[in-house]
Amino acid sequence: MNKFLLAPSIIAADFTHIADEIAACESAGADWLHVDVMDGHFVPTITVGPLFTEACKRATKLPIDVHLMISEPEKYLEAFAKAGANNITVHVETCPDLTGTVKKIKSLGCTAGITLNPATPASALDSALPFADLVLVMSVVPGYSGQVFMPEMIGKAEEIRNKLNALRSKAHLEVDGGMSEKTIPLMVQAGANVFVAGNAAFKHPQGVGQGIKALRASVV
Ligand code: DX5
Ligand code: ZN
Repeated sequence: MNKFLLAPSIIAADFTHIADEIAACESAGADWLHVDVMDGHFVPTITVGPLFTEACKRATKLPIDVHLMISEPEKYLEAFAKAGANNITVHVETCPDLTGTVKKIKSLGCTAGITLNPATPASALDSALPFADLVLVMSVVPGYSGQVFMPEMIGKAEEIRNKLNALRSKAHLEVDGGMSEKTIPLMVQAGANVFVAGNAAFKHPQGVGQGIKALRASVV
C-alpha cells in the first residue's frame, strides 16, 4: 500500500485513446484516477460528466476520484455515484450547506472530499472538516490543467494539515494543480499525502507511464 498516493488527472490525457492512457496509468502504478468535471459556469471550461466517468470506471480498477467544479453539485451527486465515483469532492464556494452535502455524498456510498479555491481561506472548511474523508487544496485557480503551481498554497496546506491533526482526522490531504517532481516534495513537507497530476503525468516526453514513475520517485 503506497503511503503517498498519485492521482493522474485524466482531462490532461490524449482523448483520442483514453482507454490506453488509463491502462498506462494503471500499469505504471497510479493509485487513483482523478476526473475533473467542469460546467463552464463555476469555471470557464466545460469538460466531462457522468457518462465519461462511467466509461473510466469500466476502463480501470483504479478508484475514481471525481472533482466537481460545477455549480449546484447537489443536483448531480447521485449521477456520479451511479457512474461509479469512489470519491466525490465538492467546492465550498458552490455548497451553501457543505456539511449537508458531505453527508449526502457519504449516504450514496462514496467518500466525501471538500475543496476550496486559492483565494478562499482555510477557515471556510472548518464546519465540514470533522465529517470530510478528504480535503483537496487547489494550488492553481481551477479550470485548466498545465498552470503554474502557486507556492503560497504551501502555507494553506500546512494550516489544513494542522486542523486535521487537531481533530485526529484520518482524512486524506490532497493537492491539485501544478504538481510535478519539484512541487510534490514541497507539499509532502506541508503534510499532504495525495497528489493530482495532469500535465506532469500525461505530457511527459516518454509518455504517461514514465510520467507516473518520475512522480512516484519524487515522493519516496
Ligand atoms: C484544475 C484541475 C486539476 C488540473 C491538474 O482545475 O482541478 O486537476 O487538471 O492539472 P495540472 O497537474 O497540469 O495542473
Ligand atoms: Zn482536479
